[in-house]
Amino acid sequence: MEINRINEINELVQLASIADMLDNKNVQTMIHTIALDDDKELTEDTREYLTYNALGKITSPNPFYPPPKGNEVSGEIKLGEAIESGAPFGLGIKEITQHILLAGMSGSGKTTILYNLMNQLLKKGIPFFCFDFKKEFRGYIRKSDDVLVLRPENFKLNPLRPPEGINPLRWISIFSDVFCHSTSLLEGSNSFLLDKVYNLYKLWGVFDGRDTYPSFLELDKILQHVYIPLSSREARYLESVRNRLKSCVLNAEKMLKCDRDMFKDLMERKKSVIFEFYGISEHVASFLVELILTKLYFYRMAKGRNHSENNPLVVFMDEGRNVYDYRKEQNIASGIPIIDTITERIRDFKVSLTICTQIPSEICVSAKSNTYTKIMMRLGNGKDISDMARCMGLDKNHEQFAYGLEVGEAVVKLAGKYTRPFPMKAPKVDMDKDVSDYELEEKMKPILAEFDTKPVIAKQLYESYIDGLNDRRRTKKKEEKISDIVRDLLTNIFTSPYVPMSERYENLRLSRMKGKLAKDFVIENKYVTEINIKVENSVYNFLVLTKKGLSFCEEQGLKDKDWNEIVGGKLSFRHKFYQNLMKKYLVQDGWTVHFEHPVIGDKRTNVNKKVDLVADYKIEGKVEKSIAVEVALSNYEVYTIMNCVDDGFDEVRVVCRDETARKRIEKDIYGAIDEIDRDFVIVQTINGFLNSLPQTP
Ligand SMILES: Nc1ncnc2c1ncn2[C@@H]1O[C@H](COP(=O)(O)OP(=O)(O)OP(=O)(O)O)[C@@H](O)[C@H]1O
Ligand SMILES: [Mg+2]
Repeated sequence: MEINRINEINELVQLASIADMLDNKNVQTMIHTIALDDDKELTEDTREYLTYNALGKITSPNPFYPPPKGNEVSGEIKLGEAIESGAPFGLGIKEITQHILLAGMSGSGKTTILYNLMNQLLKKGIPFFCFDFKKEFRGYIRKSDDVLVLRPENFKLNPLRPPEGINPLRWISIFSDVFCHSTSLLEGSNSFLLDKVYNLYKLWGVFDGRDTYPSFLELDKILQHVYIPLSSREARYLESVRNRLKSCVLNAEKMLKCDRDMFKDLMERKKSVIFEFYGISEHVASFLVELILTKLYFYRMAKGRNHSENNPLVVFMDEGRNVYDYRKEQNIASGIPIIDTITERIRDFKVSLTICTQIPSEICVSAKSNTYTKIMMRLGNGKDISDMARCMGLDKNHEQFAYGLEVGEAVVKLAGKYTRPFPMKAPKVDMDKDVSDYELEEKMKPILAEFDTKPVIAKQLYESYIDGLNDRRRTKKKEEKISDIVRDLLTNIFTSPYVPMSERYENLRLSRMKGKLAKDFVIENKYVTEINIKVENSVYNFLVLTKKGLSFCEEQGLKDKDWNEIVGGKLSFRHKFYQNLMKKYLVQDGWTVHFEHPVIGDKRTNVNKKVDLVADYKIEGKVEKSIAVEVALSNYEVYTIMNCVDDGFDEVRVVCRDETARKRIEKDIYGAIDEIDRDFVIVQTINGFLNSLPQTP
């Protein structure tokens, strides 16, 4: 080969390298041909072509150079123009059905792109669904008579009603999956919920072929009545599911209060719908959106591919952050999120998703890997730009370019047709946003009237079910097995009522733990009531049998008529306790003690009374000293004291609870009995009595 031609070829290779076209198949073929065949004309054409591209590369700051030309990126639905070349950029319906990801910070122009898309779809008569969280799309009612805009309270949705053609049993598990995934509940709660919905379906006669379904409100109410012992694992599931359900009901009661919902009619109407979700908490809204998508997918699946082929539907999600929350994929324990599966497969049923997000780094991988068209608008931070750059296959220069995007500008990457990324500019499209609720209601009224939604019925069924739950709960309590320990404890309380609990545990040889459990049981099941009594700076804890406790003991063959007086009463127990305590101390000092001793008195009172305690001190069988003690709690009678004075006791004592009571009673008695000897009638607290027992003769 001549030196000249070698130089010529070298020059072409260098130009190709500058133009970044060494990989280009056409360029390679041309250079190859020139090397084999000295074609002057081809050499000239190639040089010209490569010089043009190399110069463009050198002089343009656009790392996407060369831009798409002619109709390379055009399509039926227009989105904008390629920057520099001005080539029209659009997508065919087929491409749209393979989903769009639209990422951009607040104000970058995402919603505007949606307006543009929706306007064209309307013109072409292709229906769309749009989930609107900011009341930004209601202006469509002025553009078209076909668009239905549903405020949250006008939309009816029953998550418990399966889409037409889906077996209810299957729907239970699908529904539970969606609910648990979108409210971050784990597997355990999922099976718990599944079981509860299954029972409801059974009750509603769903498995017998009835076309009535319970609503969320009944599920919520029924869970409020389910009784599960607090210590069990199920109680935690119950609590979690209950909270999530409550939150849904609080946020969207009107929407959820229905049996037959609007879903089927909306599908059959084949018109565009804007679902407004403002005023509903983000998480509840995300559950509702996910549920609609799930219903949509299974509805289409039941209808079959042929039906879908003729009925494309475009779904716009103006903020997909919650529905496509990346944390759903991280929760390995709960499996692949159902939204991932749906995103991947719903395209087979001609349903297209356009997912907008401000924070692409926080959305599921499925939203990135399953989208044919990726559009990156201006983004707020480097993390999001790198994230988008990675999923769009951009290099460092492209990424750098993305930092400089203006409002309405974007970098686009398609999975087919034209596979190199390119920048584009979207047109400014305006929308009426000042549509009032009133205007909306008036316009929607006639359309809404066409829907056949059924309010919640089955009230009777539901009431009887709740009653059933309560009955079961009651019998469950009745069946509560009395353990041997509890039996021993109750018997012990019966036979020695005035023993404090600490001492009783020792007597029964019960560990603290077992003792505590038995005590909790008898209190909780109302066999006893608890009472604390303070004596000499210590507080003693007692259990007093209730009527229920007493009849249990009597059924065991125990008998003691004293119990009839103290049963259930804290005051009478305290009274008896004081009597027994004083008796114990007095007996230790050698006294003989009787309770309830008659005191007759003389003509002064003329009434027969009984004093609580009489203690006699005997020497060689003869009573040397006799004292009377009256316990004065809430009710005592001065007459009893008067009779004691008249009956010639050596000493009369009145024992009360504390210092306040003592002062009050002292004033009463000393005021009522004339010329009383204060050393003879002594009013004192129980502590005072125990600390100054009567002198023995
Ligand atoms: N292509 C465009 N040319 C000129 N102005 C535009 C263009 N696109 C959007 N705008 C203007 O920028 C503003 C924000 O646009 P838009 O509401 O579409 O942003 P967004 O990305 O949806 O924001 P957000 O995330 O907060 O909803 C609007 O005032 C809109 O008119
Ligand atoms: Mg927006």
